[in-house]
Amino acid sequence: MATVLIHNATVTDGSRRVRAWLQINGERIAGIGPGDVPPRILSGSDSVIDAGGALMLPGMIDSHVHFRQPGLTHKADIAGESLAAVAGGVTTFFDMPNTVPPTLKVSDVRTKESIADGASAANYAFFIGASAENADELRACTFENIPGVKLFMGSSTGRMAVTASEALKSLFTLCRDVPLMVHAEDDAVIARAAERLRREWPDGDIPVTAHPAIRTSEACLISARHAVELAERYDTRLHLAHVSTADEVRELLSEGPLDGKRITAEATPLHLTFAGPEDYETLGARIKVNPAVKSAYDRAVLRDALYSGAIDTIGTDHAPHLPAEKEGGALTASSGAPMVQFALPLLLSYFPAELVVEKMSANPARLFGVTDRGALRRGNYADIVLVEQTEPYSVDDSMVISRCGWTPLAGSGYRLKYRVLKTWVNGVLAYSDGRPTGARAGRLVDFRR
Ligand code: DOR
Ligand code: ZN
Repeated sequence: MATVLIHNATVTDGSRRVRAWLQINGERIAGIGPGDVPPRILSGSDSVIDAGGALMLPGMIDSHVHFRQPGLTHKADIAGESLAAVAGGVTTFFDMPNTVPPTLKVSDVRTKESIADGASAANYAFFIGASAENADELRACTFENIPGVKLFMGSSTGRMAVTASEALKSLFTLCRDVPLMVHAEDDAVIARAAERLRREWPDGDIPVTAHPAIRTSEACLISARHAVELAERYDTRLHLAHVSTADEVRELLSEGPLDGKRITAEATPLHLTFAGPEDYETLGARIKVNPAVKSAYDRAVLRDALYSGAIDTIGTDHAPHLPAEKEGGALTASSGAPMVQFALPLLLSYFPAELVVEKMSANPARLFGVTDRGALRRGNYADIVLVEQTEPYSVDDSMVISRCGWTPLAGSGYRLKYRVLKTWVNGVLAYSDGRPTGARAGRLVDFRR
């Protein structure tokens, strides 16, 4: 098996940064150590890479993407989006079930796995979705290679909402060991707000700036509160997806480390970066997502919640749509934005690397029970990213690898201070110096339960 030595890298052990080397042997990390490379390691390496002092991180584990296959491949597909992933230092992704058909049966998951086999540059696993009718399927499921169950407690792209109380009860009862990832937005609150606004704009669509006045903070809080109440009642292992409001953080989430928590939460780079109303004015539907981007105050509380531990993970919620689908106002433009390619450099531009690694690599690994990933540790899979600090730069649509061809960062005024140099997946170089290598090194993730 080929051995690759990366030396002169900077690593962090959570508090200190040190110069270090790392040796890859086949798919795994064979060794890692501080300072100069021991002569025995150097002579035993087939190739040597000088990291030039760049920061070496474990590959990001993006536990929330929409890669659109099968059925929506005009927007994106697994092979293509996985290239955007490795370009962004994301070595593992968990894909969501709102495809066509929706992923509601174990056989649907296996179909997606066989699409990804040999085609994905990054490691992959597929959520199974919840519906009002598939409780028997989920009850019989052993969750082999499946990270969790995704439940839409309100409507979003794909019409997968489950609201009937009997169905919710059985879903929450089922998910005691496997995470139940919940999209929480209350349809009734949203419908009432939309109706009110329709009266204000009787002649046409409602402007995108009003999106958070339709998909309100109240809609999030009411639905997330309901999810937490059910989880407490049925002892569910609940993971609240894309928390977007200060109210949810304050009322529903507990601070502190991940270990032992039954109720955990995710934030997205989009909600951590943008804020209304000003960003809606410049970017329009490009930042239209569900749940909506809220105020600068909500954003500040979300950022603090990463530090306090009230929010446990960051998932990109990479949800590409074609530019034509993003046209129109609050009622017509599709919700969702691509993010997998720039999330890591973006987050590193305003959070310490230690925090980003905790929320986007170590914690997703622990929360979902990912085997042998999420840390630069001897014996783990060699999922590795080298990132360098650069002069601040702007991102434009021409840099986008995703099929959709646009990014909410273009024209946003945000400048990135980091760049991904190289990404290894299972010991194979998948991205190097501005381009994917073409290696399809991804493999199915397995879980410890
Ligand atoms: O903005 C969103 N886009 N929110 C979702 O819940 C789904 C996603 C999508 O699939 O487009
Ligand atoms: Zn999503």
